[in-house]
Amino acid sequence: MKIEFILNDKPQTIDVHPARRLLDLLREDFGLTSVKEGCGEGECGACVVLMNGKAVNSCLVPAGNIIGNSIQTLEGFKTTERYKVIEKCFLEAGSVQCGFCTPGIVMATESLLSENPHPTDDEIKESLSGNLCRCTGYNMIFKGIRLAAERGKGLW
Ligand code: FES
Ligand code: FES
Repeated sequence: MKIEFILNDKPQTIDVHPARRLLDLLREDFGLTSVKEGCGEGECGACVVLMNGKAVNSCLVPAGNIIGNSIQTLEGFKTTERYKVIEKCFLEAGSVQCGFCTPGIVMATESLLSENPHPTDDEIKESLSGNLCRCTGYNMIFKGIRLAAERGKGLW
């Protein structure tokens, strides 16, 4: 099936089975390896990308659902000022250890702050409830997001 969509701000046309997972399409066909496979069942958030600006688990999205939509991965988001703020604040807060969960958490953070630039602690926790991290114990991740919301005022 021929599918047209936007990937990291560039129009794409591909021939793909509509049931192919967006996760596999991004990693295998486009080489976008920031998108990680953890559980493969929508439970861990390692595969989070943005679809029309909202966080989605790419392991649960069939290629047929992306027709006409805009998909953004960390590779595309990295070119923005907002990414630079998140990166700096995550480093300062010690939000990253092994880094496996980090691309999904960065994309979930972008989705949160785009919708709600001044989240409360509870809103930060709630929005990250679908992202598992085995290393940091979450407090440093929440701190990094709080810092990014403060320092990035006006960007979101
Ligand atoms: S791999 Fe998609 S949610 Fe875990
Ligand atoms: S930093 Fe290792 S899983 Fe989150």
